[in-house]
Amino acid sequence: MFNPKLKRVLIGVGGGIAAYKVCEVVSTLFKNGVEVRTILTNSAQKFVTPLTFATLSRYPAYTDENFWQPNYSRPLHIELGEWADIFVIAPLTANTLAKLAYGMADNLLTNTVLASTCPVLLAPAMNTDMWEQQAVQHNWQSLLINNRFHGIPTASGLLACDRVGAGRMAEPTEILAYIQSLLHTAGRLDLAGKRVLISGGGTREHFDPVRFIGNPSTGKMGLALAQAALHRGARVTLVHGPANWDVPLGMEAFSVVSAQQMHQAMLRHLPDADVIVMSAAVADVKPQEYNSEKLPKRSLPEALALEPVPDIVTELAERKQPHQLLIGFAAQTGDIVTPALEKLYRKQLDAIVANPVDQVDSGFGSDNNQAVLLDKQGRRIEIPPCSKLQLAHYLFDFVTA
Ligand code: C5P
Repeated sequence: MFNPKLKRVLIGVGGGIAAYKVCEVVSTLFKNGVEVRTILTNSAQKFVTPLTFATLSRYPAYTDENFWQPNYSRPLHIELGEWADIFVIAPLTANTLAKLAYGMADNLLTNTVLASTCPVLLAPAMNTDMWEQQAVQHNWQSLLINNRFHGIPTASGLLACDRVGAGRMAEPTEILAYIQSLLHTAGRLDLAGKRVLISGGGTREHFDPVRFIGNPSTGKMGLALAQAALHRGARVTLVHGPANWDVPLGMEAFSVVSAQQMHQAMLRHLPDADVIVMSAAVADVKPQEYNSEKLPKRSLPEALALEPVPDIVTELAERKQPHQLLIGFAAQTGDIVTPALEKLYRKQLDAIVANPVDQVDSGFGSDNNQAVLLDKQGRRIEIPPCSKLQLAHYLFDFVTA
C-alpha cells in the first residue's frame, strides 16, 4: 500500500550495472499507482534498454535522441522538469555527480535537473576507489549542502569489480522507502538538526537460552519511524528487538533482546534526543528464574513465576527535559481510544499512537497500519489504513505542526 500524496516520479538512469536494480524500483512504483517517466543516459543504455523501462513504466523511455529531435511543442527537458514531483537519479555515476555538482548540462538528464525545482534523490553506485576519490567525495558533499538534493549513502558489499567495499548502490527497498517519504513530504526537512530516538520491535524475556516470553512484533513500525525521521533530516538512533530486516544506511542502531537491555539503551541515549518515540512492544513481565543451560523437557516447570519489567516510557517521562517530546504507542483490541488516552496521561506522554492489533492487515508483522493520534493538548486525528512508513510521516506531521 503506497498511497502517496504526490504521484509523479521521474527517474534518471546512469551508466552502471546497478541500473538493473532500478528496473525493480520502476516496476514497484508502477504497481503502487505512481506515474513514472524515465530518462536513460547514453551509457545507461549499454547496461539496460529503453524498452525495459518503457515496458515497466508503461510509458516511452526518453534518451538523448528524443532530446535533440524537433518533435516536441516545448523543449523536452522543460516539460519533464515541470512534470516531476520528484526526480530520482539511480545509479548516480561519478560522471553525472560531477556534472551536477558544477551545474553542467550536456545531456537530457542533466538539463532536466537544471530545468526543474523538485526534490532530487541521488543513489550513487561505483567502485570503492572511485567513490573514495577526494574529487568524488568533494562533489558529493558540495551537492548535499543544497537541501534540494537528498542522498542515499552507498552500502558496502561485493561490487561488480569483484571487490568488497563501499560504493554499492542502496537496495531497491531502501530507494523505494525514500521515494515514498519524498512523495509525502515534498522534500521538507523539518527534522533537520534534531536527534530522534526510536525504540521498535518486541522484547524477549528468556527463562533458558531457547525459551522466552515474547510477542509477535517484528519491529517494522520502529523501522518505518526511523526511516521517516531520517528522510526528514533527523539524526536517528534506533534501539530494536530481534528483527529480520537490515538497518537502513545512515542511522545508528542498537540491537537488544530483553526489556532490561532496551531500558538501559534508551536511558543512555535519552539525554541527546529531541524527540523520543517508544514504539517497541515491551514484554510486561519476565520469568523470575533464568537457567543458563537449556532445560530438558521433563524439567520444565508446570507454572512460571513472573515478575514485572521496568516500564521504560514512564521512566523516560520522569527524566525528560521540557524541550524533549515523548511519544508512546498503545497496541489495543476493541476500543483503541479510551485505553490510549488513559496511557497518555498516566505515562505523562506528549502524544500517543493508538493502533488496533485485531484488524486484518494492520498491527503486528504487517507492512500497513492504521491509528488514532492523540496528544495532551486534546488533539485527535484518525489515520486510515496506510503503509507503516506513511503512518510514521503522519505522526511526525502531527507532532511538528
Ligand atoms: O502499558 P502498555 O504496554 O500498554 O503501554 C504502551 C506504551 O508503553 C508503549 O509506548 C510501550 O513501548 C511502552 N512500554 C514501556 N515499557 C514497558 C511496557 C510498555 O516503555 N514495560
